[in-house]
Amino acid sequence: MLVNATNMLLKARDGHYAVGQFNINNLEWTKSVLLTAQEMNSPVILGVSEGAGKYMTGFKTVAAMVKAMDESLGITVPVALHLDHGTYEGAKACVAAGFTSIMFDGSHYAIDENVAKTTELVALAHDHGLSIEAEVGSIGGEEDGVIGMGEVADPAKIASLGIDFLAAGIGNIHGKYPANWKGLDFVALDKIHNATDNIPLVLHGGTGIPDEMIKKAISLGVSKINVNTECQLSFADATRKYIEAGKDLEGKGFDPRKLLAPGAEAIKATVREKIELFGSANKA
Ligand code: 13P
Repeated sequence: MLVNATNMLLKARDGHYAVGQFNINNLEWTKSVLLTAQEMNSPVILGVSEGAGKYMTGFKTVAAMVKAMDESLGITVPVALHLDHGTYEGAKACVAAGFTSIMFDGSHYAIDENVAKTTELVALAHDHGLSIEAEVGSIGGEEDGVIGMGEVADPAKIASLGIDFLAAGIGNIHGKYPANWKGLDFVALDKIHNATDNIPLVLHGGTGIPDEMIKKAISLGVSKINVNTECQLSFADATRKYIEAGKDLEGKGFDPRKLLAPGAEAIKATVREKIELFGSANKA
């Protein structure tokens, strides 16, 4: 059931768990995430980066695929289709394409411009029934060409603009964490939580954060956790094993439905693990 992400995240905040945002890249990804969320009776957010949107030939294609797949698989758990780290133009395109949620990442603009653009997009999103996420500070690392330095966020301004949930830069990084990573800055998280009127907070860079830190972040107001790289690594690992075992050369093992099946199963296993860790199973 396609919905915006507002209610599922308010419920998560009040119930002290987090909803996973799993980024999708293609049909297999989408199907694996939807089936796992349904199996576990968990709300879920499908994240689509600008790059993944382009790869899938545009946001219209993505919205049409997700909507049809949600119906044809008989998915009854709440599913939000969310633009991840959207540009100003991308956010508008997703509203028009039928997404149910957007993130506007204005973190690279000067604060006044970020505020002006966020304010405009809040009104547009809400007029169309979408939820909207914005960001303070910047999430470190690189995702689809978007590079952040990982500086700790200043919670002062964005929180009061009518956004539905807020991404916090608290030393979290997209992709794998370096060996010398200092860990999440819980003092900054607590400060942001206290300064932002209990708005659901979002933890980006979910791949590779130790379980105990995830649990602590949830206890400090994180209600949405984004995972991208970990599903990519699981998919790649399972696909490599299939090919290295020569299975693509046996019978019709080269059939894409067979070749991609271990990877799709591996994504499901990762999503299952995260849903358990985040505590959103049976919360649909
Ligand atoms: P990871 O790729 O580190 O899991 O981060 C995902 C993310 O934050 C998407 O916005």
